[in-house]
Amino acid sequence: MTVISVDLSNRPYDIHVRAGLLADVGAVLTPYARNGRILVVTDENVAQAVLPKFEATLRDAGIACATFTLPAGEAGKSWTQLERLTDWLLEQHVERSDHIIALGGGVVGDITGFAAHIIKRGCAFVQIPTTLLAQVDSSVGGKTAINSAAGKNLVGAFHQPALVLIDPELLSTLPTRQLAAGFAEVVKYGLIDDKAFFEFCADNLDSFFGGDPDIRAQAIIRSVQSKARIVAADETERTGTRALLNLGHTFGHALEADTGFSDRLFHGEAVAAGMALAFRYSVRLGLCPAQDAQNVAQLLQRAGLPTTLSEAGVTANGATLVDYMRHDKKMSAGTLPFLLARGIGQTFLSKDVVLDDVAAFLDSEA
Ligand code: GLY
Repeated sequence: MTVISVDLSNRPYDIHVRAGLLADVGAVLTPYARNGRILVVTDENVAQAVLPKFEATLRDAGIACATFTLPAGEAGKSWTQLERLTDWLLEQHVERSDHIIALGGGVVGDITGFAAHIIKRGCAFVQIPTTLLAQVDSSVGGKTAINSAAGKNLVGAFHQPALVLIDPELLSTLPTRQLAAGFAEVVKYGLIDDKAFFEFCADNLDSFFGGDPDIRAQAIIRSVQSKARIVAADETERTGTRALLNLGHTFGHALEADTGFSDRLFHGEAVAAGMALAFRYSVRLGLCPAQDAQNVAQLLQRAGLPTTLSEAGVTANGATLVDYMRHDKKMSAGTLPFLLARGIGQTFLSKDVVLDDVAAFLDSEA
């Protein structure tokens, strides 16, 4: 087993990565079960695919569990579901010393973490991510949120989990499209500041998608190590270090807005196209060699990910896409900080980007 620590001074926590971890997770969770019982939040898909095995290992460990099931997909991250979830937690007499278990993908982790943050002014929670995207990104770092009418993740809080348990074997039943969407976030860590890891992704892409357990575990571990390091350096995105994790996300959120935050374009797919756009925009600004942008797009294409507006199914013009960007949480005093690149592994935060120029660039991409 690999244990990665998130070294936050006031509440450090561990991330365990082990193939087959789910099969005996009951034993790992025993210290977290108050009076031999835990509360579990999951969604309809995970309830079918993973929950029976999870419940069996809890039974083996003598732990009783009560489960709350969310609808699958972004619909699970609404005010309505938050109200249902918090009512249920109160009916279950949740206490601050409980550790609520988030068993699922990013949606389950985000809403469970937010519910844990607000219920009784703060309960602990444990993340057991079941998708690649949740394993390498959303389960680590304590960003929790629900969606509101004005946009995605606009109501939320920083609330760190007490523990993250990652079983790479869970990826074996994940649809390829979901796996590819998570792979975009894996590649992102290479693009931010680790060119050698980008090359690892390129060299091992076929093995990764072919199911090689060692390559999958290495990709997850290296991603989580990067995320843990960045979160420990800038937990609440104040200094600019954590903002590096938003590479591709400003373009990506605009693409997601244009496609209705729906299954037409998964978040990871939008991030892939967003990263390809960020690299091409950096080339346009004379910051980045064109070859690097081509290499980024080629790797993402090999994973079956979109790298252009049309591949992402986006039809809006540049002005409309930039309007979506203006709703970004990071917009401040009329300026939108942008992640640009001087090359692969050399991402930086720029506050000098002119949104009208971004619109013209997007029009040139159509
Ligand atoms: N997913 C970006 C972050 O955790 O900061």
